[in-house]
Amino acid sequence: MTDTPRHSSALRLTRADLDALPSYVPGRSPADLARELGLPEAIKLASNEVPYGPLPGVVEAVAEAVAGSHRYPDMGVVALRETLAQRYGVDADRIATGCGSVALAEHLVRATCLPGDELIYSWRSFEAYPIIAATSGATSVRVPNDAGHGHDLTAMAAAVTDRTRMVLVCNPNNPTGTAVRRAELDRFLDAVGEDVLVVIDEAYREFVTDPEVPDGLTYLDRPNVVVLRTLSKAWGLAGLRIGFLVAAPAVAAAVRKVVTPFSTSTAAQAGALAALAEADEVRRRCALVVAERERVTEALRKLVPEVPASQANFVWLPLGDRAVEFGRACEARGVIVRPFAGDGVRVTIGTPAENDAFLAAAEAALG
Ligand SMILES: Cc1ncc(COP(=O)(O)O)c(C=O)c1O
Repeated sequence: MTDTPRHSSALRLTRADLDALPSYVPGRSPADLARELGLPEAIKLASNEVPYGPLPGVVEAVAEAVAGSHRYPDMGVVALRETLAQRYGVDADRIATGCGSVALAEHLVRATCLPGDELIYSWRSFEAYPIIAATSGATSVRVPNDAGHGHDLTAMAAAVTDRTRMVLVCNPNNPTGTAVRRAELDRFLDAVGEDVLVVIDEAYREFVTDPEVPDGLTYLDRPNVVVLRTLSKAWGLAGLRIGFLVAAPAVAAAVRKVVTPFSTSTAAQAGALAALAEADEVRRRCALVVAERERVTEALRKLVPEVPASQANFVWLPLGDRAVEFGRACEARGVIVRPFAGDGVRVTIGTPAENDAFLAAAEAALG
């Protein structure tokens, strides 16, 4: 009798199906690249961070909070959830926080899917989605992006089956920057019905300028809608790892049950409270990013006319088979971007000087 290996053949200690998952490949370190090229510094436009440093007051608040770092954090995240509730006009019992919104996406899958249940998302979208599905035993159902590199919500609604427990709508979409508009999202939610959780991942909401792109929080009258937000991007807290979700109270409570205990650290809670007091500065920084996004898009379209309009803090170059080569060419000029082999290249919007350096590299590679 043959035994089908359910565990990795090397040591048989870990799951064999993980062999099929891509390992996380850390981005190139700017310090290493600068050393290799003999440059004073290299430019990192690969992780969708905002380039203007922590918000005023964050460093001081975190420094003060870490004086108590021998104690566990507030597990209920009470002060922060209250502050978020006030800021976004919802009850605190609708909010759960986590170690980045990516962790909350994981917790949502854990709270909804049993092995074999289906999780639908557009592809290409955020790289974490297939990993989150696979590690929880859910079945990924990928619906190809439409010709404009955005979600095909009609096809996504048609992909729902009896096994579907959750659909992820990444709005704006990472890595293509495209965004779905209210009318199509309304139609989609009506078609899906209320027994499937629809998670609107709004990691880049603060950079949206198209008034037709809806704020997910306006859909909270639908009990199956969850909105995921992060403080890593516009709010400048990527290194502290903190995100939150807003959902029906029962869904938020379920997530708070499965969350890794104490995973919203003391430093993250203090940093988030300080950052949220700086909403005007966030708006100012986002306006700078948006102005640069439009400038970079216009310049890139002279080289690659198909660059889609972006509603996020990055742009997408649909270069297909040339993606990896383009990434290497940018690195050779001291600019780290994010190629996706065979598909395209995502480039984060940096400072005007960083964007100029990138545009010069792009011109040299493609012009
Ligand atoms: C679409 C999307 N969702 C979530 C995240 C994760 O953000 P966080 O740092 O809060 O985990 C990212 C980060 O790249 C993202 O692009």
